[in-house]
Amino acid sequence: MALKIASDNKLKKYRREFPFTKNVTFLNHASFGPIPLRALKKTKEYYDALSLKKIMDMDEATFGMMDKIRTYIAKMIKAKPSEIGLVPNTSYGLNIVSNGLDWKRGDKILLSEVEFPANVYPWLNLKSKGVVIKFIKSKNGFFDIDNLLEAIDSGCRLLSLSYVQFFNGFKNDLKTIGKICEEKNLFFVVDGIQGIGCLDLDVSKCKIDFLACGGQKWLLSSLGTGFFYLSEKAKMKIKPAFFGWLGVDWKMNWADLLKHNLKPFSSVRKFEIGTYPFSTLWTMCSSLELFSEIGLKAVEKKVLSLLDILIDYLQNSPIQIKSSLDPKHRSGILSFSTKDCSKLHELLSRKKILTSFRENSIRVSPHFYNSFEEIEKLIQVLKKLNNLTSFIR
Ligand SMILES: Cc1ncc(COP(=O)(O)O)c(C=O)c1O
Repeated sequence: MALKIASDNKLKKYRREFPFTKNVTFLNHASFGPIPLRALKKTKEYYDALSLKKIMDMDEATFGMMDKIRTYIAKMIKAKPSEIGLVPNTSYGLNIVSNGLDWKRGDKILLSEVEFPANVYPWLNLKSKGVVIKFIKSKNGFFDIDNLLEAIDSGCRLLSLSYVQFFNGFKNDLKTIGKICEEKNLFFVVDGIQGIGCLDLDVSKCKIDFLACGGQKWLLSSLGTGFFYLSEKAKMKIKPAFFGWLGVDWKMNWADLLKHNLKPFSSVRKFEIGTYPFSTLWTMCSSLELFSEIGLKAVEKKVLSLLDILIDYLQNSPIQIKSSLDPKHRSGILSFSTKDCSKLHELLSRKKILTSFRENSIRVSPHFYNSFEEIEKLIQVLKKLNNLTSFIR
């Protein structure tokens, strides 16, 4: 513990960005992420400009800020900025692919049976085009590669999978799965929202064709922000289902808007259509700046070591851990269950320890600014429960 706290000193200064930590133990980033103070300040500056309290060069500054976002994200997932586009949420991103690929009657899409609905409905919507959806059976609630291999047959064209499963935190082995997709000629789509901002990822090593991610959870950004990655290789396969004036290369030329023959951006910006939620994007840019200062590897290390402490305790208690403890499959989410789990969730909330209740389990999801003491606080509550046999299965 002492060693862990020492290695945490570098991150300590960032705790000041989250003043609510004085009153609340927030262990719920898998649900939504609080925005850091610096992001709040930037967003406020933008609203001040909108309300003309302050004069700001809106175009240069805001379009420059969006370029920055694309660059930060590209660095985070080891892509090129030209492969990153902005979307309001994960679902919108997934719809870019589901509506942009050229489907034929009888084409098959592979999904996990334990997928968050955001990564199911955009595909179910294709049933009307005669596309068949095949759900891959999980094992103990975890995605299973053997079952994937068994499910692949000649009609399969695409696999869409979460980086991290939302309720038990199972981190999928995207490198192995990506290789399978390449060999079997499957378009590989990833819902990144429960991993990105917490775990390191290299999209090209994982041979991901398309990834969508909302900014509202681990990326500590506002609701209404998100991004997608479309690999240069896969770009040709997708046509924009929606098309708009900000998808063409207008070069911010306000003097010549009646020219209606501009070419789409050669980058994936061609999938962006109209005026953006600038205020929330300022939040996103500022939060991403924070991540770029810290580095994702340091974030991942800290989050896993916070959860190590909880795992150590749970393993020696009668409480049932629902997450995989295989290092290859661990993430920022740890789930466990007791007999009266929803009551326990309420009890924790009353004690201002915020977690979520999903699939009859308590889901704990700390971030880099959480302290080891906060995890100890949670453990202290659980220890008391251990004496209350009604909570234990
Ligand atoms: C795996 C996963 N995907 C997507 C979402 C949300 O999708 P969207 O950003 O479209 O609201 C969530 C949670 O809200 C999630 O857990």
